[in-house]
This record gives sequence, C-alpha cells and structure tokens, in this order.
Amino acid sequence: MEKTLVLLKPDAVVRKLCGEILRRFENKGLNIADIRMLNITPELARIHYSEHVNKPFYPDLEKYITSSPVVAVILEGESAVAVVRKMIGSTNAADAESGTIRGDLALSNRQNLVHASDSSQSAKREIELFFPNQKNLN
Ligand code: CMP
Repeated sequence: MEKTLVLLKPDAVVRKLCGEILRRFENKGLNIADIRMLNITPELARIHYSEHVNKPFYPDLEKYITSSPVVAVILEGESAVAVVRKMIGSTNAADAESGTIRGDLALSNRQNLVHASDSSQSAKREIELFFPNQKNLN
C-alpha cells in the first residue's frame, strides 16, 4: 500500500467539482485515508511549491493557490503515486488526454484543478506538510 497527497485546488472548490474528482479516485479503488479543507497561506505555498518559487509563473501561481480554500486528501492504494498522476493527466490541461481529470474538466495550465505528488519521496514530504499529525505513520 502506498500513500499520495492530492490537493483539490481553488478552481475545483469554486466550480463544485470536488465530489466528481473524489468519485473518480474512489471508483478506481483508492481509499481516502484523510481529508481536510484549509486556506493555503503564502508561506505554505512557498514551501509546497519551493521548486517553482523562482519561476516566472510563481507570483500568479501563489495568487491562485491562496485565492480560496483547497481540499487536501491522502489517497492510499497499490502504486497510488503513479496511478493518481496518470488519472490527473498533463499539467497543461489543454494538452491533457481525454479520460483524465484535467483532460475532461479543465483547459488551463495554471487552473488545472488538482495537484498530486510526483514521487513517493514528495508524497512523504507533502503529507507531513499538510497533515502534520500523520508524521511517522507512513
Ligand atoms: P501542479 O501540479 O500543482 O504543480 C505546479 C503548478 O504550477 C501546476 O500544477 C500549475 O498549477 C502551475 N503551473 C505549472 N506550469 C505553469 C505555467 N507554465 N504557467 C502557469 N502555471 C503553471
């Protein structure tokens, strides 16, 4: 069993797509191990997106991710990291394959509905960041 961190980003919450997105993960057979709604602060955004902080698109990314609440979810299942990445599709939703969450429900490079950990190492770091009480449980 593997765990991964998914964020349902502000556009998913505002567009009322959280249920649709979670339904897809649950139908696939993944378990929701934990879930919480929170506001991402600029400080948390800079830690979570540390690899992007110096990129030209970062100021707009920070504005977007802090603009309204997000839903953080720990999903659990066989090869959860790779399976979830495949299910969400390419970062640029305009390029994402039909059948993926971004491919079916979004069109933008930035407002792409979901974030998912890209490796088991990132998953561990991101789970500890968004669910501090889960430390040492993974
Ligand atoms: P995510 O998978 O959460 O990882 C980094 C986020 O930055 C990405 O989804 C998008 O929301 C955003 N992003 C990545 N590349 C770009 C880009 N070229 N222009 C605008 N936003 C981007």
